[in-house]
Amino acid sequence: MNDIFDGVLQPMDLEDIRRQAEVAADMVEKVRRTVLAPTAKKLPPLLYQKDLYELCELERGAFVYRLKASPELPQGTTLPNRRIEFTLAESRQVIRELRAPSLRPVGREAVVISVANFKGGVGKSTTAMTMAQGLSLLGHQVLLIDADPQASLTTLTGLLPEHEVGEGDTIFPLMVGEETSIRSAIRPTYWDGIDLVAASADLFNVEFVLPSRQVKELKHGFQFWNVLNLGIDDVREDYDFVIIDTSPALSYGTVNALFASNGIVVPLPPNALDYSSGAQFWSLFSDLSDRLGIVKKFDFVNVLLSRVDPDPASAVVKRWIFSTYGDKVMPVEIPRTIVTSNASTAFGTVFDRPVTEHSAKTRARARDAYFDLAKHVERLGQAIWARQVEQTPLSLTMRSTSEVN
Ligand SMILES: Nc1ncnc2c1ncn2[C@@H]1O[C@H](COP(=O)(O)OP(=O)(O)OP(=O)(O)O)[C@@H](O)[C@H]1O
Ligand SMILES: [Mg+2]
Repeated sequence: MNDIFDGVLQPMDLEDIRRQAEVAADMVEKVRRTVLAPTAKKLPPLLYQKDLYELCELERGAFVYRLKASPELPQGTTLPNRRIEFTLAESRQVIRELRAPSLRPVGREAVVISVANFKGGVGKSTTAMTMAQGLSLLGHQVLLIDADPQASLTTLTGLLPEHEVGEGDTIFPLMVGEETSIRSAIRPTYWDGIDLVAASADLFNVEFVLPSRQVKELKHGFQFWNVLNLGIDDVREDYDFVIIDTSPALSYGTVNALFASNGIVVPLPPNALDYSSGAQFWSLFSDLSDRLGIVKKFDFVNVLLSRVDPDPASAVVKRWIFSTYGDKVMPVEIPRTIVTSNASTAFGTVFDRPVTEHSAKTRARARDAYFDLAKHVERLGQAIWARQVEQTPLSLTMRSTSEVN
């Protein structure tokens, strides 16, 4: 009788689980080396002159004229096929100069945005990375903070969390109280214009450390939800945007990210399951804020339609989303594309893929959507900077005006 069940169960003790963990970690490392061969490091893309004048929203003639008139700017490298190519760093130097009026005014501070939804797999990390890449291609300086112990965003920047991220490279020292600023955890990435505070599995411990600090340090006015916000203060003038990726839970890390933010982007694929679990984001968040007695006004809390399929079922759920969230739905939607999912197989996004991959049309569709998102977020940022200008004491406004003169 028992023979028929031979081999059906596969008992594992904790030692077996530890061994399996080692096998999995080694395999991830091997896969990454193969995918990112020969350097095992991610490389930034090269851009053509056409990409640059499109990003600057200039006609080719006007772009060439302005570039020639500024010989101090990189002029690009002419290839045998006569195309002119720029490295990412060169491109950003040119774009920052030609798009100067759209960038953060002197003396203003970074706009902090969390990408959040307590539902898993809705596209948070992909959105955080592509938003950062899009904004950096528009000339902005971006700090990415990975507040999710799963470290997907860190992986998208080409790092292997288990091997290349120490506790000190994450928000952990700030959360424990060893540091008061996030600055020491910041590192550059392969992508010019994007710096990173990485994540690793160590961040799971934040969930134990913060409640214990709340009890121990209560009499000193400790606020467990305000640690990341205070830690960012030191670098607000160094960046145009700070983008925080969060875990799919109302964890202590996520709460810190939300309360450190000017605005929140909630990615939401239009399918029935994601739609109904997505509703919990709003109820759990407001219940928590009530319980903690926090008073805060966000500049925006927007729903982003992500992984949108062109089928009739998605169209129905999209209508539910619009009637639930109204004008909080961003005027941009991210299509589900094979380019996006294929790019993640190589630990990257659509911005990392070579121009030759897939049909130019599919790739352009995915990139255009992320650029539209970056441009919309840029407008939100500009509105916040304009308000910061209005709120600036007269003396500072006068000082910055004379600086400009
Ligand atoms: N527009 C898209 N088209 C196709 N695939 C996508 C798209 N956006 C995201 N994906 C894929 O969906 C999966 C989940 O995306 P992602 O990791 O960004 O979600 P997440 O919300 O951060 O997940 P988690 O809650 O686990 O942190 C990934 O495999 C990603 O490549
Ligand atoms: Mg994620």
